[in-house]
Amino acid sequence: MRPGTGTMNTAITGLQWGDEGKGKIVDLMTSDHDVVVRYNGGANAGHTVVVGEETYALHLMPSGILSPDIQCVIGNGVVIDPTKLLEEIDSLESRGINTNQRLFISDRAHVVLDYHKMLDGALEEFLAGGRSGASIGTTRRGIGPAYADKVLRAPAIRVGDLRYPDVLEERVRIACDLHGEQLASLGWSERPDPEKLIATCRDWGARLGDRIIDTTYFLHDAVKAGKRLLFEGANACLLDVDHGTYPFVTSSNCSALGIPAGTGLPAATVDRVIGIMKAYSTRVGAGPFPTELDNAIGEQIRERGREYGTTTGRPRRCGWLDLVAVRYAAMLCGTTSIACMLLDVLFGLDEVKICTAYRLPDGSTTDRFIPDAHRLSGVEPIYERLPGWDGELDFDGAREQLPDGARRYLDFIEKYLEVPIEVVSVGPERTQTLMASTI
Ligand code: GDP
Ligand code: IMO
Ligand code: MG
Repeated sequence: MRPGTGTMNTAITGLQWGDEGKGKIVDLMTSDHDVVVRYNGGANAGHTVVVGEETYALHLMPSGILSPDIQCVIGNGVVIDPTKLLEEIDSLESRGINTNQRLFISDRAHVVLDYHKMLDGALEEFLAGGRSGASIGTTRRGIGPAYADKVLRAPAIRVGDLRYPDVLEERVRIACDLHGEQLASLGWSERPDPEKLIATCRDWGARLGDRIIDTTYFLHDAVKAGKRLLFEGANACLLDVDHGTYPFVTSSNCSALGIPAGTGLPAATVDRVIGIMKAYSTRVGAGPFPTELDNAIGEQIRERGREYGTTTGRPRRCGWLDLVAVRYAAMLCGTTSIACMLLDVLFGLDEVKICTAYRLPDGSTTDRFIPDAHRLSGVEPIYERLPGWDGELDFDGAREQLPDGARRYLDFIEKYLEVPIEVVSVGPERTQTLMASTI
């Protein structure tokens, strides 16, 4: 909290491999904020929010859009597929949610075009062909190729360019030439059509219109005016391109460390970071997962937690809670409190296990995470075993009412992480949540 202002700016970040329930918590926290800001990722994200009878799956749209008076910002760090964004806008409008004068898009965010999605698919097929090991298992939403263009510069198209036909034409032609060659060499049959893409880009520019602004000044003005910002992380810390299980990561800084670069706000703008974790672990796509359960318990967790991807529908890999990984993620993100989600999924098990250290191939042990896929794939989890719990989920807002075993489980997590658990979630709905009064 900044002295004298009474404002509290909050970051929501996933502490595992994604799908921790960030959308639910952003929705719950929105009422205490004025502006909800996305700073990373793109349509690879899938944030589910359940409001009464309605379920919303949001990919590019900040989850704050579901609360009427909230402004929403898609910051410069995001890669935007306008087709998807316009679909989301239309779908929300058709469900009675007004997005006009509420959604602002950075003119410096980068645009995902068809050839990025083609390249994403072509690269995945190339890697699956056995040359250099395994494919990443991306969402094929063009995320990696769009961020690659951003760093390459010449072929990149930013949202602001959509409104400047000359710049746009030149860049689309460069990109089509370059990526046409790449697609051919990867054996991909489709080719981008520059004329069609230029026309599409112009149409996007017209449709997104006044929503395209300099969001950096907008956000600084909001901070000066004492507005409260809520940063909605997409993807999650262990998928961070610098700090995750590289190379099985996404292509952005999706830990809280991505906020300054992805918005243009200094890091000190963030007053508190709520780390979102599941009571167990899941992962979609390839990459090391030390506590993965390839057995009936894993299957039970998948079915009870409905662990199928919001974006791709793929079954999520499931496993025991890995606290080595979560403690590392909480450290990186500067996490000030924890939301422990999907605790209901673990009800009814005889025994639950928590990974507290790894055994390395040379027989030694460590309680430090290893953010490198090759080395992490060689570790064996060392577990603490705790008795399971049963009982009715008669839950009206007090942690004391949880069954003893569930409380012991939460106490163990809190002690290991040395960060307080201030939110416990036992179902997808807003009411199925215990929030500490300090939140
Ligand atoms: P996100 O990407 O982090 O926003 O998470 P997703 O929306 O991809 O996946 C989380 C899923 O769990 C969604 O279907 C939520 O509706 C659901 N969910 C959230 N919290 C809970 C909970 O406490 N219990 C159960 N059973 N489901 C939950
Ligand atoms: P939310 O915001 C889960 C994973 C993909 C793949 C890897 C790289 O819903 O938590 P990409 O398409 O980004 O190049 O894929 O990252 N991945 C996610 N997994 N939840 C997400 O987002 C994810 N975003 C990317 O499955 O393994
Ligand atoms: Mg998700």
